[in-house]
Amino acid sequence: MSGKYVTETLEADESGVARATALLRDGGLVALPTETVYGLAARADNADAVARIYAAKGRPSFNPLIVHVASLEQAEALARFSPAALELAEKHWPGPLTLVLPRREDAGLAEAVTAGLDTVAIRVPAHPVMRRVLGATELPLAAPSANRSGFISPTRATHVLVSLSGRIEAVLDGGECRAGIESTIVAVRGYDRLEVLRPGPVDVGLRVITASEKTIEAPGQLASHYSPGKPMRLGVTQPDNDEFFIGFADLAGDRSLSLQGDMEEAASRLYACLHEAALSKKLRIAVAPIPEKGIGSAINDRLKRAATPAEM
Ligand code: TXA
Ligand code: MG
Repeated sequence: MSGKYVTETLEADESGVARATALLRDGGLVALPTETVYGLAARADNADAVARIYAAKGRPSFNPLIVHVASLEQAEALARFSPAALELAEKHWPGPLTLVLPRREDAGLAEAVTAGLDTVAIRVPAHPVMRRVLGATELPLAAPSANRSGFISPTRATHVLVSLSGRIEAVLDGGECRAGIESTIVAVRGYDRLEVLRPGPVDVGLRVITASEKTIEAPGQLASHYSPGKPMRLGVTQPDNDEFFIGFADLAGDRSLSLQGDMEEAASRLYACLHEAALSKKLRIAVAPIPEKGIGSAINDRLKRAATPAEM
């Protein structure tokens, strides 16, 4: 937890928002709450600020960032919206949907934000604290999930500090993230061809394109991601003694994603349970079967990647 900075924890009140805004305007890194997970924000129009995001996360430079804006109008200054893209934006923004769209040449974004692609990933988040900061900075904010690259995403300010304390200026504590799973990413190709690059809280009623069917464009699709750093078994009904058991419904476990078997609750608790499992004394992790219905497919997507050992 050593580093160059003494990371400030800011309260989500007027002075905390003002401090976060000033730090961001100065090119600093501030972790902010969104309705999905905490994001590590920096001004998207500044190359040095964006470079610092990659450095703080240890993120490979080929993995582009999501740009967060306050409104559809602001998004339209950054990317071209086809009618199909407009329809999705109007239906789901503000909310947990990211659109990958053709970038405007005059968008004014730092080159590294889009990692050399001619598309840009944009979303208008719904979290009131994030919206206040976006409104106050009057800037597009690049923000990947606020965790070291490859590790578990943060749904609480304390999760952010575990992996980024000393590497960023501040975290704005907005409590627990409601959805708990990263935004659905949809690429809009040409006039109206839609591809789901990452399943998430918004169900757009399309099948997900798997990495084996195409070249990997969203590295969030890489097989290994969200790793708790321990061996992990999925679909387990009988855990071993040395396993931290993450339960669901009737299978209670050491921690349960949802005793009631509620899918939304399971999504919102997923990363908190993985963080606990990672910190526990148990050497391995087991997870109960999670039904594929609704947001269950996004939960299973993240669990599969968390259970896949990194090739490093
Ligand atoms: O809910 C979320 O989306 C959170 C919050 C903070 O907004 N952010 C998030 O960011 O999950 P990150 O960096 O962890 O994941 C962004 C994903 C990556 O898989 C990246 O490859 C993909 O978006 N991405 C970004 N720009 C892209 C582009 N132009 N084309 C395709 N994929 C892109
Ligand atoms: Mg991430």
